[in-house]
Amino acid sequence: MAHQVRLIRTPLSVAGMVLTTISAVVFLVVFLADLFGLHTNPYMGILFFLILPGIFLFGLMLIPLGAWIEKRRLAAGKAPSAAHWPRIDLNEPTQRRTAVAIFALSMANVVIVSLAAYRGIEYMDSVAFCGQVCHEVMQPEFEAYQDSAHSRVKCVECHIGPGASYFTQSKLSGTRQIFAVALNSFPRPIPSPVANLRPARDVCEQCHWPEKFHGDKIERIREYAEDEKNTETVTELELHVGSGSERLGASGIHWHVNPNNAIEYIAIDDKRQVIPWVRYTDRSGTTREYRAEGVTQEQLDKGDRRRMDCIDCHNRPSHTMAPTAERAVNETIASGEIPVTLPFIRREAANALKASYPSQEAAAERIAKALRDFYRTNHEAVYMARRQDVEKAVAATQTIYRRNVFPTMNVGFGTYPNNIGHMDSPGCFRCHDDSHTAPDGKTIAQECDSCHTMK
Ligand code: HEC
Ligand code: HEC
Ligand code: HEC
Ligand code: HEC
Ligand code: HEC
Repeated sequence: MAHQVRLIRTPLSVAGMVLTTISAVVFLVVFLADLFGLHTNPYMGILFFLILPGIFLFGLMLIPLGAWIEKRRLAAGKAPSAAHWPRIDLNEPTQRRTAVAIFALSMANVVIVSLAAYRGIEYMDSVAFCGQVCHEVMQPEFEAYQDSAHSRVKCVECHIGPGASYFTQSKLSGTRQIFAVALNSFPRPIPSPVANLRPARDVCEQCHWPEKFHGDKIERIREYAEDEKNTETVTELELHVGSGSERLGASGIHWHVNPNNAIEYIAIDDKRQVIPWVRYTDRSGTTREYRAEGVTQEQLDKGDRRRMDCIDCHNRPSHTMAPTAERAVNETIASGEIPVTLPFIRREAANALKASYPSQEAAAERIAKALRDFYRTNHEAVYMARRQDVEKAVAATQTIYRRNVFPTMNVGFGTYPNNIGHMDSPGCFRCHDDSHTAPDGKTIAQECDSCHTMK
């Protein structure tokens, strides 16, 4: 045993012990701080929960490595190494103590390594890791996410989901992504759709049960004109959300996700916006195939075939960005954040947002200047009497920009089409255009009332 102790007194092994001890102490302190709610920022997280355990493990491996090298050295110069194996005799007090110490330290190491692995994985699953560490890359999705109905759902719950297979897949693609960021070789914008997203029904149906939807959902859309009064028009839609349930008489919009129906389609572009072929299979296995005018078999053979699920319509459930500057301003006036009583504010705010700026900081500055200048020059009385309202409009317009336009990622209004609806991008009308025709002459209908009634 004494011999073993001497073997690990080599410089390499001692360096290993020092690394292990220091990183273990620092790790335990940070771990306890974290446990008691003292949260470190996301970058510190990488250091403490990924790099530090790495150093710990590295140190741990140096100890036997040093001993092994030393042993080989001794073996080369001296008697055969077998002669140097220690004779362990637990009746001898010093040896007993050493054995107990080694055992205790090993157990402590196992505990530390498991804690580190657990915390490291948990950390990599956190919203902070996904959304903030590679700040520039994920900023568009992160900003939109924070503002969405799903801002309390962790990124990994949609992007990875439960189960070992997706866990490994996502860690592999995550490693690739870290390299892409380090080498600055990632695409701008990040392409959508996400090629290997987990099947939406696994993901979304953890929380939503589409068989259970029924009835209508009322949506009120407020728009403002470009006149001095920003005149309002309101469209009220009664959307036939319907249900995917056979018992409730599957009907309406969620008819597509009724488990008895299968709708498959082929998209021939990489954003899944051009869909010239659709096949509907009912519960008895009867199929009906619809084709768009003029599509060739060759195009279809090259296309991407999918079974329709939630994200073929809800493709922006937590990363909704306004399709146009006008829409964003309309919504912000409707919510009261931009005072509707400011003359021409709808037109001016939209124009300020549509100009091209090199960065978000530059945009904030110039949007403020454009709006203030407009009121100072053209509506001096308003400018003098209602400075507060003007500043409120400035702040809200700056927020719209920050939330929707990301010059460094080449993301702006309309970059990511939203498939719910049909006004700003084809959406439902990718199929429902009255020109996808089946052999029996039936088409996928565009009849307005089948999806919503309007007031
Ligand atoms: C409610 C589910 C959900 C949550 C939560 C969610 N995402 Fe997404 N995400 C999606 C869907 C759906 C898409 C689009 C997939 C498609 O069209 O293939 C997407 C797309 C993306 C894309 C690809 C680029 C794009 O804009 O389409 C990125 C990057 C992304 N998400 C990052 C994140 C990050 C970071 C978080 C957490 C801050 C997050 N997501 C949280 C559902 C979600
Ligand atoms: C971990 C649970 C969870 C998951 C997973 C989840 N959602 Fe949700 N979703 C919610 C909750 C909770 C709400 C309601 C939020 C509210 O009312 O503010 C919601 C709301 C919605 C809404 C209504 C949004 C609105 O703006 O009114 C839609 C549409 C939706 N989810 C679609 C999806 C889709 C599509 C997926 C899969 C990509 C998904 N959800 C995954 C929990 C989840
Ligand atoms: C054919 C397109 C389509 C498909 C497929 C689809 N949805 Fe929807 N869904 C809609 C539309 C349109 C609305 C109503 C508009 C809105 O809420 O944005 C809606 C509304 C919802 C709502 C809000 C319901 C309410 O009453 O407020 C939830 C939640 C939702 N869908 C979840 C899902 C889930 C989960 C799936 C997959 C199992 C799914 N949807 C599949 C088009 C679709
Ligand atoms: C991939 C193609 C495709 C897309 C995209 C699509 N649909 Fe459909 N939809 C179909 C097909 C196919 C049918 C059934 C036609 C038939 O009866 O053979 C259908 C049927 C319907 C029905 C009638 C259901 C019933 O009660 O019988 C409604 C309502 C509907 N769709 C709404 C929508 C809405 C809203 C959207 C957009 C959010 C949408 N669809 C997007 C393919 C599509
Ligand atoms: C296949 C289903 C479907 C059909 C057919 C359809 N719509 Fe829509 N429509 C939608 C959905 C879904 C929305 C989006 C609702 C939302 O914003 O959540 C929408 C939104 C609208 C809006 C509001 C647009 C806005 O400003 O946001 C108008 C107006 C409209 N539809 C008019 C029509 C008219 C007119 C027809 C007939 C030619 C028609 N729609 C046919 C599904 C359909």
